[in-house]
Amino acid sequence: MSMLSIQALHASYDGAPVLHGISLDVEQGSFVAVIGANTAGKSTLLRTISGLVPRRSGKILFNGRDLLQMPAHEIPVLGIAHVPEGRQVFPLMTVEENLMLGAYVRRQDKQGVADTLEQVYQQFPRLAERRKQLAGTLSGGEQQMAAIGRALMGKPSLLLLDEPSHGLAPKIVQELHDALIRIHSSGVTMMLIEQNTQLALSVAKQAFVMQSGRIVLEGSSDGMLNDPRIREAFLGI
Ligand SMILES: Nc1ncnc2c1ncn2[C@@H]1O[C@H](COP(=O)(O)OP(=O)(O)OP(=O)(O)O)[C@@H](O)[C@H]1O
Ligand SMILES: [Mg+2]
Repeated sequence: MSMLSIQALHASYDGAPVLHGISLDVEQGSFVAVIGANTAGKSTLLRTISGLVPRRSGKILFNGRDLLQMPAHEIPVLGIAHVPEGRQVFPLMTVEENLMLGAYVRRQDKQGVADTLEQVYQQFPRLAERRKQLAGTLSGGEQQMAAIGRALMGKPSLLLLDEPSHGLAPKIVQELHDALIRIHSSGVTMMLIEQNTQLALSVAKQAFVMQSGRIVLEGSSDGMLNDPRIREAFLGI
């Protein structure tokens, strides 16, 4: 059984359909990317998994349970964390306060939360150095790391990442790339949306291409890197 199995998923905003029958499977322990042009519906797909799009039909099975049948606030408790588009840190709270917000699903497990906090600081030493700094004063890359760190505080088994590299300098993108690979190696199943197709295909093992609310191609990242259609449409080579 796949960890995540999406079946014939449709979603719309106020009567405007965006997802037109998406079906895809994500195996436990995998690292998948979703690529596609602007407005293909990539963010909507992640938001629908997280229960944030009210008008939808089909099935989203997570370890066999249908997420469409449960309220959004229960979804993180099942082990799904979502790092949304844009760097959504709380600017007037410190780095550590931001991180601790991600632990709310594990309020009862004080020691476990303290251990995870140390792991997040090991993962992102820049955050450890800045633990008392207001998050609004972090650089863009550091804010993105804080947003990912906050998601990790809930000890997710599935991490949904919406364009984490957006607007970051190449050196920071490389750091982020390395961090994503380490997070995956620590046992977290990863679903990454990226405009930066090169980055997506270099970190993910498998990719789905979305176009106008549909999956139009899926396969290994290596295969896609060598696919003339992908090279022309997304890599410009
Ligand atoms: N809250 C909303 N209300 C109404 N329409 C929306 C809303 N959010 C997204 N849409 C529409 O849904 C479509 C898909 O948007 P979505 O953000 O999912 O695309 P995307 O693939 O993530 O694009 P990008 O690469 O630009 O982030 C777009 O036409 C967008 O205008
Ligand atoms: Mg988007």
